[in-house]
Amino acid sequence: MLDIQNLSAAYGKATALENISLNVMPGELVAVLGPNGAGKSTLLKAISRSLSSQGTLTFEGRSLHNVATENVVGLGICHCPEGRRLFPELTVAKNLQLGAYLRNDKQAVADDMQRVFELFPILSERGSQIVSTLSGGQQQMVAIGRALMGGPKLLLLDEPSVGIAHRLKMEIFAAIQQIRSRGVAILMAEQDAQSALHIADRVYVLEHGNVAQTGFAKDLAQDDRIRRIYLGLD
Ligand SMILES: Nc1ncnc2c1ncn2[C@@H]1O[C@H](COP(=O)(O)OP(=O)(O)O)[C@@H](O)[C@H]1O
Ligand SMILES: [Mg+2]
Repeated sequence: MLDIQNLSAAYGKATALENISLNVMPGELVAVLGPNGAGKSTLLKAISRSLSSQGTLTFEGRSLHNVATENVVGLGICHCPEGRRLFPELTVAKNLQLGAYLRNDKQAVADDMQRVFELFPILSERGSQIVSTLSGGQQQMVAIGRALMGGPKLLLLDEPSVGIAHRLKMEIFAAIQQIRSRGVAILMAEQDAQSALHIADRVYVLEHGNVAQTGFAKDLAQDDRIRRIYLGLD
């Protein structure tokens, strides 16, 4: 579904990704792990075309290099970015609706809104609440919900659990599994290696803009050396 070969990206002269190769199959949940500054967010930004990059970037057989950021959603790639980037002074419902701004299929949009509320029941009670007054975990739910309102085939999630209380974090990981079980492929950057290994099919570990390790989550989870050196786990 997503095929990346030798992808490089930089901020000015500072290289952030160096010849990364990675793929995501339909319906797969792939985790991108690695320490702060490894290049995880840069990778997701390159895929959603919010940052320019060099190399091969193909989605469903089509090169993304000539696709503008605003057209990526229309192809079915929805990015839930680092830091959520919500409209804090707007309501929950308005933020969710904004995720569907490119869609004309009103009934399908209404159905998707319903599915977001089923996924995160707390949001259905908070539809008219101003987003800035929600907890961090609830805001993350809105951010994921908004990305779902774009109707993704591939959902890009950037550290969905960062800075969130444990209970809400578990709810968010459970929701991510549900999204995947509906057939949406997911590429998720995450620093919580333990939780990510539990739900992912495959994993890429980034270090200094390179792929340091890759494999099936269940294999990496059982490899003591990889757990210790690459995942920071005992
Ligand atoms: N807007 C930016 N301007 C300059 N450098 C950046 C910017 N964003 C990230 N970087 C640098 O690019 C590298 C990769 O960052 P990032 O992709 O955000 O890592 P991660 O998401 O894994 O923490 C880091 O060295 C970081 O300092
Ligand atoms: Mg990041």
